[in-house]
Amino acid sequence: MITLEVNNQVIEIDVEPDTPLLWVIREKAGLQGTKFGCGAGVCGACTVHVDGLATRSCITPVITVEGKSVTTIEGLSPNGDHPLQKAWREEQVPQCGYCQSGQIMAAASLLNQNPNPSDEEINQSMTNICRCGTHQRIRNGIKKASEEIRKG
Ligand code: FES
Ligand code: FES
Repeated sequence: MITLEVNNQVIEIDVEPDTPLLWVIREKAGLQGTKFGCGAGVCGACTVHVDGLATRSCITPVITVEGKSVTTIEGLSPNGDHPLQKAWREEQVPQCGYCQSGQIMAAASLLNQNPNPSDEEINQSMTNICRCGTHQRIRNGIKKASEEIRKG
């Protein structure tokens, strides 16, 4: 049995230790907001937080997060009201939406570490791929959320 905390809930699961965290989140915890894209750590669709840091869950063996705190898009805020989620709605960031939970989790990790990122810092940090080409709107959403967070 492996014990981990997902969105502040302790879960115990019976899986192989090298099972990717993504499949534990989607199939064992039943949280479908985290997406499968490349399965190779490249696209970022599967991004969650592990102890607050953006982590690509498709290449993270579940055993490596035992005893750590995992947050998925479902646990980012109680009512979908994280400043990034509000900014995403206001800026109408998503197109098909498939990459967006990963984008928001990557952006939330960035803003936790750097509440006022420059364009350059956003570009360097936000390596998640969007096949719909929403990158400019993602940048706008991050800047809007950053202002909101700094206003308190
Ligand atoms: S599905 Fe994990 S990085 Fe693409
Ligand atoms: S909104 Fe479609 S892949 Fe990003």
